[in-house]
This record gives sequence, C-alpha cells and structure tokens, in this order.
Amino acid sequence: MCGIVGYMGDRKACPILIKGLHRLEYRGYDSAGVAMVNADGNLNVFKCRGKVDDLEEYLKGKDDSGTIGIAHTRWATHGVPDNVNAHPHYSESENIALIHNGIIENYRVLKDALIQKGFNFKSETDSEVLCNLIEYIRNEEKCELAEAVRLALNKVVGAYAIAVLEKGNNDQIVAARQSSPMCIGLGEDEFFISSDAASIIDYTNEFVYVNDGEIAILRRHEPLKIINLENKDAEFNITNLDLSISQLEKGGYPHFMLKEIFEQPDTLVDCIRGRVSPETAQVILSGVLDNREKFIAAKRIIFVSCGTSWHASLIGEHLIEDLCRIPVEVEYASEFRYRNPIIHSDDVVIAVSQSGETADTLAAIRIAKEAGAFVYGICNVVGSSIARETHSGSYIHVGPEIGVASTKAFTGQVTVMAMLALAIGKERGTIDQDVYEKIAKDLLVLPEKMTEVLRQDSNISDLAKTFTYAHNFMYLGRGYNYAVALEGALKLKEISYIHAEGLPAAEMKHGPIALIDIELPVVVIATSEKTHEKTISNIQEIKARGGRIIAIIREGDTQIKKLADWVIEIPALCDYLMPVIAVIPLQLLAYYVAVYKGRNVDQPRNLAKSVTVE
Ligand code: G6P
Repeated sequence: MCGIVGYMGDRKACPILIKGLHRLEYRGYDSAGVAMVNADGNLNVFKCRGKVDDLEEYLKGKDDSGTIGIAHTRWATHGVPDNVNAHPHYSESENIALIHNGIIENYRVLKDALIQKGFNFKSETDSEVLCNLIEYIRNEEKCELAEAVRLALNKVVGAYAIAVLEKGNNDQIVAARQSSPMCIGLGEDEFFISSDAASIIDYTNEFVYVNDGEIAILRRHEPLKIINLENKDAEFNITNLDLSISQLEKGGYPHFMLKEIFEQPDTLVDCIRGRVSPETAQVILSGVLDNREKFIAAKRIIFVSCGTSWHASLIGEHLIEDLCRIPVEVEYASEFRYRNPIIHSDDVVIAVSQSGETADTLAAIRIAKEAGAFVYGICNVVGSSIARETHSGSYIHVGPEIGVASTKAFTGQVTVMAMLALAIGKERGTIDQDVYEKIAKDLLVLPEKMTEVLRQDSNISDLAKTFTYAHNFMYLGRGYNYAVALEGALKLKEISYIHAEGLPAAEMKHGPIALIDIELPVVVIATSEKTHEKTISNIQEIKARGGRIIAIIREGDTQIKKLADWVIEIPALCDYLMPVIAVIPLQLLAYYVAVYKGRNVDQPRNLAKSVTVE
C-alpha cells in the first residue's frame, strides 16, 4: 500500500520521480505528490487527489526543478483521499517534507502531545504527525535532520517506509524502514529510493535492501550510510537484480492484466526451467534438497497467506496431503497471527506471497520462527521481505505482476506447489513412481496446454458479453477445483465489482441453492475425473431449478456438454494440475466482463496490489 520513490543525483529529479510513481501505482492510486528542493534551496511540495496522470497535469507550470526529490502514490489508511491528506506532508514550518508508507499506531498520543506544544495539523494523517515530530525534535535538540529522524522513530510504534527532505539542503535525503518495503538503488554518484526495485530498474540494477529498524542517510557525493535506531552503523550488501524493462511495459496489450494472462505459458516455462528434467522427468527443487531432513521430519505443514495466494495454498494442501501424506492446514495469515496458534518445532510453515511484502504474512512468519518452526517461502518478488525472512524457499519466477488482480502469480504458485509436493513426496517415499512420472511429465506440457486454452480467448470474450449485466455469480468446484472456484469468483469481484461467491459444489445444497434462478449464472469447474459423477449431480440440481450453467470441462466430456448452457473445453491433464489451466477461462471471463462494464481493470477501485498494512 502506497508507493514511495526518491532521487538525488545530477539529473532533474521530477521526471524520474514521476516515472517511478507510474511504476508504483499498483501499490495505491488515490492521490499522489512530489517534494523537491530546487537550486535556491526552496522546498516545493505539489500533490493532488487522483492518479499520477492527474499529478502530472497539476505540475504543469509549477517549479519542478531540482536534482533531489521524493514522491508518493497513496492508498488511504488515515483520512479520505484528498489534496490535503495526499503526501508529501510539510512540517508546520514547511522546513521539512515527508512521505510515508505504513501506519503509525501511536499517532494519536503523539499528535495530542504535539498539539500541546503548539503544533497545528492540516491533514487527518498519521504521517503528518511523524513529520511534525521530526521537526519538533530537530528544534528542541538542535540536531541534524538524520538524528532528528532517528530520535523520532524511537518514539514511534508501527510500520513505515519514510523519506524526508529539508529546506535549504539539496544534498541529503533521510529514509527509514520498519515493516514496509524499501530499497536504495545505487547509480553513478546518484541514489534512488523505492518501495519496489522494479520501479527504478531503468536507472540501475544495483540495490541495497534496507532492513527493519534501519535509517539510510543519502548524501550527495558520499557513499551510502546506514545506521540503526541505536545510532550504530549497519552493514549492507549490494544485490544485483536481473530484470528487463520490457517486463514492466504493456507490450501492445490494452491492460497489464491481459498481458499477464497471455504471458502464462512463458512464465510457466520460467517457473519450471531447471526444476523438471525433460529427459528424466526428475523434479529437483534446491530448497527441498537443502532442507531434506526438515521435510522428512515434518509432522505438519501450515500454509500462511492472503488473497489469491491463499487460494493457491488450498491447492497446495491437496497436493501435499495426497502426495506426501503430511497433514496440512491452510491459514489466513491475518487470522493465524492473532489466534495464539499452536506451532511445534517439527512443523513446516510455508508462506505464500506474490509480493513478498504482505504485512500479515510477514507477521505470521515471525510468529512461526519464534516458535521454532522451519519457514519456507513461495514468493515471486526476488529479494522481497518474505523471501529474506524465511529460512529457505522457492521463487515462482513469473516476472513482475503489475495488474492488481493476480493471474500469473497464481498459476506459478500452484506449479511450484506441485513440484514441491513431488520433491517432498519422493524424499519421504510416499509417492508412487508412476504417479510421480505422470505429474512430472504433465508439468512439462503445462505451458503448451495453457496456450491451447488461451486460443479460446474470443469465445470467452463473447460469453462475457452475455453476462455483463448480471448482478451476482456463483462459482462451484470440488476437491482441487474448489480453490479454482474461489479464485474465479475473486477475479470477477475485484475487477468488475459484481458480487460473486465461490463454493464447494456439494455445499450449495446447504443454503446457497436458494439463490438459484434464471438470473444467476453458475460457473461450474467440472474438470475433475475423481468427482465427475458427483459434479454432474450438482449440475442437475441447478438445472432443475432453472439455473444457467457455464461449465469448464475436459475436452470430449459429452455428458456435461449436454447439460450445461455454455461450455469451455480445456485439455486433459492429471487432476493434480488441472487447476493451473482451469483458472485461465475464469481469468479471461472476469477480464472481459470488467472491460465491457468499463471498469479500470488494472487499477480497480479501493484495491492495492501489495497490502503492507494489517
Ligand atoms: C492483495 C492483492 C491480491 C493478493 C493479496 C496477497 O489483496 O490485491 O491480489 O492476492 O494481496 O498478496 P501477496 O503479495 O501476499 O500474494
């Protein structure tokens, strides 16, 4: 939530900041702003409600000069999205400007104390409180900005990634991090700051990830300095990131979401590359090999995740229970962390996250580590907080996902989970060799099968036209496909704002069947061989009540074809992997319904891609 970016060097800061904000807009897009110190030392803040395009418009004719600046794109937590609550915030004297991603939990107490000292506040934000606290301390202690920031942060409880500028000083930015992502990009005598390294990859591929409780002091013509909250120098490593700019562009597609849907055959190739041998069909996951004993000894596996990653985890539960015979629990990270969970040292906790920054998932990891569990990460963003805080893990390698509705991350996560289940099952001796080979061989053909499904794009687009005006949708699936039903419903909700419910097909008759009528489209994911007959019964129950069925079926399934009103046929694979291709028509259906409804597909209302607040 919220994206922050900063620059100091020889170039004009504003265009770099604006470009960075565009790349970070997936993190929030209700208001945006920049602060720059110009050559005369003036500290200019320009901000407005709306998207980064609106900010660009607003900046026309303003003094956008200066080679140092900070910028912010907001997802509101405290205070409505408007011009005043937008960042950067000035301190009362307008000598300091601050941007902030996160939440200051004790801001009320601090605000009251500052009001007592005579401070006035313009906004409703917790961020302005921190800005004024820094100013207050700077004046009281008569100290440097960096020291004032350090002392202020010692009084703060909460999560933050901040960057601070001061009037009259175009040679310094002070930045700090606690639980919200932040990295420093290193150029030739220039520094970049960002919530996400990908947003500044045009300028550098050398990054330093700032750790929790660290303050980065960026001074012109000086090396990067990082200290901790106790004022001790902190050591840091420079990480090289291999990312191409084309991965961050739409590449001719009207939306990132559509591009990302169509990228999936390629992203799966990247996900599987080097992990499943085309010659021997052996699955090699280094994270499992390196931690063989942990997985062999595991008495239980607990998945912790949120949103789409939670849906992928439900499929992971089936895969691991089926193939590794280890009991599995799937937890919403936000529930797990507050439930006083029972965790043993022989539990393996698997944290699943596209961004690797989701606050609740990160907190769940910390709880699991404290309890002595082995924590494994399944992440997409390389170098993200979750990737760094887990003991080991597997990247899904699907490249940057920019559309707010997750697509290629889901298929990458499920694919990694299938490989994980095969690798662990093999080590534990719980998997039959024929089953192992069948799944491994199907993994190798997954990308081409997915391409076949994507060829039905225009049929699905036509189908979507029929349902553009539906008010509700129901999605049903059994076994592995229950999670696909949930994911299909979530996609539709997120981007079209149509209410949709995903259910285990058999549960429908325990209540939701009351909703069935001609107005309610029911999407049935009916690809499972194991539950084929049962699913047919469910379809008949719906038909008997006048419901309209869109069925996702295996190619050649004539039985369901006769019953359903519309069918989308997808190629046959083993049941374990069907979710990876069964979700594709649902992604496309949601996409086209949203497009026909005129929705902002890549930036749906109220959402943000990376949820770094609780
Ligand atoms: C947000 C996003 C979802 C995502 C969820 C978990 O809600 O909008 O698409 O599934 O966060 O994010 P993560 O990065 O941890 O997978």
